[in-house]
Amino acid sequence: MDLGLSGQSAIVTGGSRSIGRAIAATLLREGARVMLVARDRARLAAARAVLAQETGGDVYCFAADLERDADARAMVENTIQTFGHIDIHVNCAGTVNPADFASLTEARWAAVFEEKLNLYVRCLRYVVPHMQARKAGRIINLAGVAGREGGAITIPVGVNNSAVLNLTKSLARALARDGILVNAVVPHIIDTDRQDETMAKLAAISGKPEAEIRKKRLDELPLGRMGRPQEVADVVTFLASARASFVSGAAWHVDGGAAHGI
Ligand SMILES: NC(=O)c1ccc[n+]([C@@H]2O[C@H](COP(=O)([O-])OP(=O)(O)OC[C@H]3O[C@@H](n4cnc5c(N)ncnc54)[C@H](OP(=O)(O)O)[C@@H]3O)[C@@H](O)[C@H]2O)c1
Repeated sequence: MDLGLSGQSAIVTGGSRSIGRAIAATLLREGARVMLVARDRARLAAARAVLAQETGGDVYCFAADLERDADARAMVENTIQTFGHIDIHVNCAGTVNPADFASLTEARWAAVFEEKLNLYVRCLRYVVPHMQARKAGRIINLAGVAGREGGAITIPVGVNNSAVLNLTKSLARALARDGILVNAVVPHIIDTDRQDETMAKLAAISGKPEAEIRKKRLDELPLGRMGRPQEVADVVTFLASARASFVSGAAWHVDGGAAHGI
């Protein structure tokens, strides 16, 4: 299947590792030009070099802390200078930590949204007017199954992801007449760098041994294994492609059947 991505230009936030890096690699293999965005300059430059070598694609990187408005603006300006325009924006930078609700002070609660939702919104504030002016664009937001289901110790994760899903659906409606398609991809327990870290945090919050938490989380997965970053990247790439031209406002689960809701 020709995905029609050759020559398309894309921003992938969080493109320096894990799911974001797999998305960048897949877009590059399909002939898209990609701007990787993350904070850690050394890891970003290393990812760019490896991806250029592995895919032979046109890959650039821009160091930005998307908690800062000026960085989000500079990311968009730099990408337009580099590629001429932006066809695809993938919001993937964000690391939400589980927390016990009782430990969430007023200040901590306000900061919860800075871990993911506000990063996404900040990028879109600059990407959307550019796409509106061109009457074309694809936006893909990485959400998470916790946004669809309640979870006693995943409240910050859940509220961020619920908000990302609402943002996706609402923007899809708001931007449809501008030719901009907005979708979410909804992963669950993907085998990434920070999975060990998350298991350790869940163990600390629940007061149970990490091995027990890990076993319980894995036992609950219908396919009996974690997902792979590539499995998420393939769905993101399809949604960015010409083959998904009538898909907008959707939330595509890549969770191995883990979500309980219909
Ligand atoms: N992994 C899973 O099991 C899973 C499950 C459900 C949903 N998700 C969602 O999928 C997305 C990617 O998850 P992941 O596991 O691949 O994440 P990850 O391994 O933690 O990678 C996060 C990426 O975002 C960048 N980043 C973080 N904060 C940033 C900031 N303030 N400004 C710019 N870049 C920033 C990181 O680079 P720097 O640290 O260098 O900035 C890194 O490239 C997230 O939205 C996550 O919530 C993941």
